[in-house]
Amino acid sequence: MKNKQFNSVLIVGGGVCGLGIGWRLAQANRPTTVLEQREVGPNSLPAATWASAGMLAPHVEAEPGEERLLPLLLESHARWPAFTQELKEASGVDVGYRTEGTLVVALDRDQVERLRFQYEFQRKLGLELTWLSGDAARQREPHLSRNVIAALYSPHDHQVDNRQVLLALRQAFLAAGGTLREHASVAEILVEKGEAQGVRLISGEILHAPVVVVAAGAWSATLPGLPPEARPPVRPVKGQMLALQTPLDAPLLRHVVWGRDVYLVPRKDGRLLVGATVEEKGFDAQLTAGGVYTLLRRAWEILPGIDEAPIVEMWAGLRPGSRDDAPILGATPVKGLILATGHYRNGILLAPITADAISHLILTGETPESIRNFGIGRFHR
Ligand code: GLY
Repeated sequence: MKNKQFNSVLIVGGGVCGLGIGWRLAQANRPTTVLEQREVGPNSLPAATWASAGMLAPHVEAEPGEERLLPLLLESHARWPAFTQELKEASGVDVGYRTEGTLVVALDRDQVERLRFQYEFQRKLGLELTWLSGDAARQREPHLSRNVIAALYSPHDHQVDNRQVLLALRQAFLAAGGTLREHASVAEILVEKGEAQGVRLISGEILHAPVVVVAAGAWSATLPGLPPEARPPVRPVKGQMLALQTPLDAPLLRHVVWGRDVYLVPRKDGRLLVGATVEEKGFDAQLTAGGVYTLLRRAWEILPGIDEAPIVEMWAGLRPGSRDDAPILGATPVKGLILATGHYRNGILLAPITADAISHLILTGETPESIRNFGIGRFHR
């Protein structure tokens, strides 16, 4: 191996995780190259970072069965205010961090019962949530339908503009001295005698490095060359979304609002995101009439004022779903081969802790306590 490459790092995947880890490594003067198969930005669809909604919502999204994941989500959530600040200083990009909080609304008796169950479960976990009547919810959000009969208010479930985060991370990574290779598709992860050696690109070019990080989202399991014991059990989970334009001077919402299988996310520029379907369709990222119709119907039931709002964009993204819906983070049985994938519905939320923990592992050789439960070994026990 050539001398200048003795401590370099290759990161496969230029999403929020790959670039976040890369940024931290570049800040520590570690020679780091991020390989992205498309471009970082609009053309990265259907990769999850660009496609997602940017909700930072560990409280209202906490579900039974995810208790072990919650501390990781909360720890990353706590890092977001400093992360946005640092990103802004490093990149000059405002990532649209908003702290109005989140409402979860119920439209009928069935939904109220579900909401009550959710409220009691989340309160037992020690999460701060307030039960509201329909009228109290409308005091917070006057455009909510008269049919909203109850709601939860979660003051600490915030949001960022995920697309701005991606552009900021790209800028910060480059400014810190990182190398970004776009349109660089990996043909093979090179492993010899149980040690990572680098990657071969589809162009035939070989890049040597003793550390290779797989942060390729939904594509992480498809990379040739990964030995079975290091191949993360990750699959694509499709989400269709759309954006409506609402007047800047009279926004329809300020909070993020969840209903049954739908959420509405107001952006500072007047866009109102409506998401998202959850579909097992492999790598199919097509929009469907049924998907878009269902989202619009559910959104309209909650917020009838969207009736006249122009649809300005529709898209689908592929979440990297793992077998237990928790991320796969840390070392593998292959020396130098590290995983940062499987973030499923929490990729943006988990970006700060993923960047900090994986870069710490690479720089010191120690796996931080926060991610010890999330290694690939849990699937092989
Ligand atoms: N976290 C939002 C989604 O997965 O749709």
